[in-house]
Amino acid sequence: MERIPISGPWITQKEIDYVTDAVTNAWYANANVYNERFEKAFSEYIGVQFAISLPSCTSAIHLSLLSVGVGAGDEVIVPDLTWIASSAPISYVGATPVFADVDEKTWCLSAQSFEQLISLKTKAVIPVDLYGGMPDMDSICEIARRHGIAVIEDVAEAIGSEYRNRKAGSFGDTGVFSFHGSKTLVTGEGGMLVTNREDVYRRSLFLRDHGRNPGDKMFWNAEVAYKYKMTSMQAALGLAQLERINELVERKRQIFNWYQSELGSIERITLNYEAPDTKNTYWMVTVVLDEKFGVKKDTLMSLMLERGIECRPFFHALSSIPAYQKLEQAEQAQQRNKSAYKISPYGLNLPCGMNMTEEKVAYVCEVFKSALGFA
Ligand SMILES: Cc1ncc(COP(=O)(O)O)c(C=O)c1O
Repeated sequence: MERIPISGPWITQKEIDYVTDAVTNAWYANANVYNERFEKAFSEYIGVQFAISLPSCTSAIHLSLLSVGVGAGDEVIVPDLTWIASSAPISYVGATPVFADVDEKTWCLSAQSFEQLISLKTKAVIPVDLYGGMPDMDSICEIARRHGIAVIEDVAEAIGSEYRNRKAGSFGDTGVFSFHGSKTLVTGEGGMLVTNREDVYRRSLFLRDHGRNPGDKMFWNAEVAYKYKMTSMQAALGLAQLERINELVERKRQIFNWYQSELGSIERITLNYEAPDTKNTYWMVTVVLDEKFGVKKDTLMSLMLERGIECRPFFHALSSIPAYQKLEQAEQAQQRNKSAYKISPYGLNLPCGMNMTEEKVAYVCEVFKSALGFA
């Protein structure tokens, strides 16, 4: 068997044609055509009013925080189990991240832990749709509304996921997406900020173009700000992928189903959870082992790699990584976030690129089972 990578996209002639057209024609008067088409189609797909194409999801989170008014001295609540991109922009704006525990089933922000951590300084919460799953958005939005806290939905990993028949990204003050090459919809690097709030939309457009108003022809900067733009070649690739989004999401679900039929009946192994009334798009097929196996994620990753299979560790709790050890409350989070610390050491992402076949999934599962001492 050849080496099996962890993740990667599904590119067809359509994507090649759109990008070729963009690099040939999207200049001069047509410079923004693909960005405008991508943004319009994207906002319609998610079911929101406004969308802004950006160079990354990290920049979308940064702009979201600034546009909803988070700044120095504020606190922002974020789940302990996520990629650092969810929390790093909190520091960019001079605010402090507060790490909440996750729900043991969904692996996403626990509404209860979120509510317990609210203080007078809390200005925003960033629920994350981890690996394509979704948290209890009804409770999170209700708590946030009651306390006057902005919701920035981190949908980097969950394009197409749904909660009570509404698309992920349509619940918060903003929704933010990633199109990194490992994601379900790719533009190489790239991101999108969506919102129904016109004030947030206008402020984000202003801040992402060096503090000048859209359409400004005098190069007149009212504030020192940022340069966050997506190229038209990336937008063309994103548009082509978006026109195939149902096919892309179904492929992800198919890959998960293959894994589930191979591993789903093994006791003491938990796969991604699809909560009632939600649609999980399974960006990363993930297994969490019962600690009684006595095997941690790093050992299992090495065993898999020996057989040519690339895996990824479940995200480490943010409160445990060196980047946050100077943060006063990191230690409290380590004591408090029982579920995060129970799950993370025993979790592994399995290969789930768009090029996976049923045969490759069977091979990965065979190696996985033998690493655990089955079969
Ligand atoms: C949960 C989460 N948030 C944010 C990001 C940031 O996305 P980007 O790499 O496009 O900045 C990622 C990227 O992998 C992510 O997984």
